[in-house]
Amino acid sequence: MAHGEVLRVEKLNAFFGAFQAVKDVDISVKHNEVVALIGPSGCGKSTFIRCLNRLHEEVSGARCTGDVWLDGKNIYGPGVDPVLVRRNVGMVFQKPNPFPGLSVFDNVAVGLKLAGVSKKSVLEEAVTTALKKSALWEEVKDKLKQPGTGLSGGQQQRLCLARALAVKPPVILMDEPTSALDPISTAKIEELVVELKDEVTVVIVTHNMQQASRISNKTAFFLLGELIEFGKTSNIFTKPQNTKTEQYITGRFG
Ligand SMILES: Nc1ncnc2c1ncn2[C@@H]1O[C@H](COP(=O)(O)OP(=O)(O)O)[C@@H](O)[C@H]1O
Ligand SMILES: [Mg+2]
Repeated sequence: MAHGEVLRVEKLNAFFGAFQAVKDVDISVKHNEVVALIGPSGCGKSTFIRCLNRLHEEVSGARCTGDVWLDGKNIYGPGVDPVLVRRNVGMVFQKPNPFPGLSVFDNVAVGLKLAGVSKKSVLEEAVTTALKKSALWEEVKDKLKQPGTGLSGGQQQRLCLARALAVKPPVILMDEPTSALDPISTAKIEELVVELKDEVTVVIVTHNMQQASRISNKTAFFLLGELIEFGKTSNIFTKPQNTKTEQYITGRFG
């Protein structure tokens, strides 16, 4: 891995049966970067990030080829347990999905408990820290025993972020995490992504180009499963090298 690199994707191809949704994608992501993935609906953004924590293969008939190096280890290497990969590469989905039946506290503690942490003081410390980092602590500190699903939509999404942060993953994947949220909740999530980049690398899918330009350092433009252009966000939005990128960001297709 190159200096400062946290994630390297090499020749990634992803399939649903015979249909190829991601084609030969190479990408390298450094520590402390926020990377935005943009492109028209159906271009393979979700499929791509689901290959980064081995979720793609959970779909019946789906598979992928290529290598994904996370902190120097190939997550597709022999003997690698996909469950452990998923535990360490956090994911926040479009629709907030706290675990039903679990309290606010347990929603955040669940990953640590699965990893074998059982000491109460350690769990309390980790849950408190994660909730503070997700800017949710003040709102839920008196509701830790209440169900996570009882929070508002925006709070639930920050709870899902806290759940992901609690295990201190090097990378968190986010798939359109604000598209179900109101503008204020959206702004909160955007602020958090920017604040958190010192400790976690975020790869975020967004259909909102203003959002990509507000929060990301690098942007990757996908089209029909191919990575068309990847570079500094400021360059992608002001002087794209590829005509297709230019057409997309100026709203001429997609
Ligand atoms: N479960 C699935 N089975 C078959 N094809 C799928 C499945 N999920 C997505 N696809 C197809 O793969 C392509 C990429 O989809 P997706 O990654 O969801 O795109 P995006 O997130 O960019 O909108 C699309 O053509 C879509 O129809
Ligand atoms: Mg998608």
